Amino acid sequence: MNSLSLYRDARLATLDGPEPWGALVENGAVLVGDGRIVWMGALPRLPSELAARVETEHHLHNAWITPGLIDCHTHLVYGGLRAKEFEARLAGLSYEEIAHAGGGIRSTVQATRLAGESGLLKTARQRLAALCADGVTTIEIKSGYGLSLVDEARMLQVARRLGHDGGVDVRTSFLALHALPPEFDGRADDYVAEACQWLAKLHEAGLVDAVDAFCERIGFSCAQVERLFIKARELGLPVKLHAEQLSDQGGAQLAARFKALSCDHLEWLSPEGVQAMAQAGTVAVLLPGAFHFLGETRLPPLAALQEAGVPLAVATDHNPGSSPLLSLRLAMSLACRHFGLTPEQALRGATVNAARALGLADRGRLRTGLRADLCVWAVDHPRELSYWMGGRMLTHRVLAGQEMLDA
Ligand code: NIG
Ligand code: FE
Repeated sequence: MNSLSLYRDARLATLDGPEPWGALVENGAVLVGDGRIVWMGALPRLPSELAARVETEHHLHNAWITPGLIDCHTHLVYGGLRAKEFEARLAGLSYEEIAHAGGGIRSTVQATRLAGESGLLKTARQRLAALCADGVTTIEIKSGYGLSLVDEARMLQVARRLGHDGGVDVRTSFLALHALPPEFDGRADDYVAEACQWLAKLHEAGLVDAVDAFCERIGFSCAQVERLFIKARELGLPVKLHAEQLSDQGGAQLAARFKALSCDHLEWLSPEGVQAMAQAGTVAVLLPGAFHFLGETRLPPLAALQEAGVPLAVATDHNPGSSPLLSLRLAMSLACRHFGLTPEQALRGATVNAARALGLADRGRLRTGLRADLCVWAVDHPRELSYWMGGRMLTHRVLAGQEMLDA
């Protein structure tokens, strides 16, 4: 084994297990080697044979160690901005009205197609740096602003490239069923058929980890999404869904039939949708940034979800139209304020349950043998991660055992 690093004199919030914050460990330490957690616990219990092999020690002055944060739903790669649309919405136009008038997602598609690979990379890197500086170690990035084979491929390549840069682990989702591109006006079913073919090609090129769609009046119907999901199943790819954001389409029930990893948004989720998700083990990804930024008032059915035992995740949904949010901690804070999560639930939502929403069993908790993705926070208690709105409290960010210098 390569060199061992010891993070010591810390307190640990493991998020592993049902007790509050997982388990809290005082005078704790985490030993890291070969990208994994080799040992963790109360420092006096560190076995002497391991202590003898420690090469680097980080004294953390009673700071808190949590699992690295996981942003399980973003649209980070895109061209242009939609700040003018924000003004229009403040002046009274709705998100759907703007979409119908040719603004919305379609305007970002136009800007994305024009931006070129280097333009997309440059702006996405800047946004990614902000998310990482606030604790993100794994991020999901969707396509969905290209809407042609080449443009979707470019978005996914840029997302992969961000991962290869080395500062964060990237998972990609294919979201061609996000909006109908103008060249397919009036031919939505033809577009779905094309998108299924693109999926096969992009999967073969190693660019896709999961398949997503926008099931909505201004997006795609359940029948159309089902055709894509059948293709995903054929290819062995997991699915997830933007479901019941603006209306109840029964998308959650459809997604549950395909054992979806997650259904996301869910403001209009029905009781039947809740039950279907519970039975399928599908995670509910809450996106309070979009709820807040669009000035929504209808809440996801949180009590019903919790009663049914559906795991809750929290993500930024970073995108230029409905959620230009660049802090997962702020998303946690908004989830507490708007959706009634406790700070402990919000942290689970951005760690262990977010990992589950991406189908990743090797992270999201502090446990021996899992990936050493860690955040060290200069706070008095992990509840503060949802309390502070902004500010810098991250002192170390560790990605697969590597100390990242941005923290
Ligand atoms: O998750 N709802 C659909 N997609 C995005 C918004 C995309 C956009 O407005 O550009 C979302 O909120
Ligand atoms: Fe989204």
